[in-house]
Amino acid sequence: MSIKQVMVIGAGQMGAGIAQVCAQYGFAVKLNDIAEEALDKGKAGIEKRLARSVEKGRLAEEEKQKALDNLSFTTDITEASSCDLVIEAIVENMDVKTNLFKKLDEVAPEHAILASNTSSLPITEIAAVTNRPSQVIGMHFMNPVPVMKLVEIIRGLQTSDETYQSIKDMTEKICKTPVEVNDFPGFVSNRVLMPMINEAIYTVYEGVATPEDVDTVMKLGMNHPMGPLTLADFIGLDTCLYIMEVLHEGFGDSKYRPCPLLRKYVKAGWLGKKSGRGFYTYEN
Ligand code: NAI
Repeated sequence: MSIKQVMVIGAGQMGAGIAQVCAQYGFAVKLNDIAEEALDKGKAGIEKRLARSVEKGRLAEEEKQKALDNLSFTTDITEASSCDLVIEAIVENMDVKTNLFKKLDEVAPEHAILASNTSSLPITEIAAVTNRPSQVIGMHFMNPVPVMKLVEIIRGLQTSDETYQSIKDMTEKICKTPVEVNDFPGFVSNRVLMPMINEAIYTVYEGVATPEDVDTVMKLGMNHPMGPLTLADFIGLDTCLYIMEVLHEGFGDSKYRPCPLLRKYVKAGWLGKKSGRGFYTYEN
């Protein structure tokens, strides 16, 4: 199936980045949000990032203009009726997402693929609320979308080979590298990353080393660009805890038990960079 017209739903951090990248690579993109202000903010962010790329010589002025011409903004979800692909990037909440997918199933054309950028919710369960589970798939972009090369493509239990192939081709067209993943808690990215972060927190909790020293070990010893505790602060400690809980519950295995220190910090409101304090302190 050839994808030409795309709708991205949710104009937040992720959705605006996804819309920008799709538009840059020639897709006609409608960016949708329930909130006008979110659309304005998303649009301003896209314009700013494209202008910066032109300034830095990474993008020609005409390419920037072409990308902007490919974009339109709407609060009307029924405009999905003209789209071949819908990529959902709204809040990480199963009820909110399944309500949206039920609505999309009604308004999107029969041939359209419905994708979710969820970082932790099961694609199989989202697909099950639609009448087209074979055309529902996960497209897990990384943050910040215009910079990060990876897209985890998550196949739900009923996702068809045709759907997978169309999304793999589309991912390559927007110059990202697709990786095929089956639908299990945390997919690959968070299943590997989060237990490492959780274990780093345990080493601090058990007094093995300070946060600075844990990060130094992983940066200088393992060549990680950023230590796990710095990364946890950037991701948000509440998000880290939430994903550990998804792994713990999903697999029922005590190896995914969230560290009590992580719980304590989240309860204290120490959420990392966004709240000014996590394993480190920040001036926001
Ligand atoms: P965000 O909070 O920045 O943006 C969400 C947007 O969705 C908001 O503008 C909100 O107004 C809008 N929205 C909420 N309900 C809606 C609805 N029913 N219809 C239309 N718009 C609606 O969230 P963010 O960080 O962009 O995350 C979005 C999704 O991407 C989540 O599922 C998250 O788990 C996933 N994700 C986030 C990553 C991150 O680093 N922030 C990384 C990878 C995936």
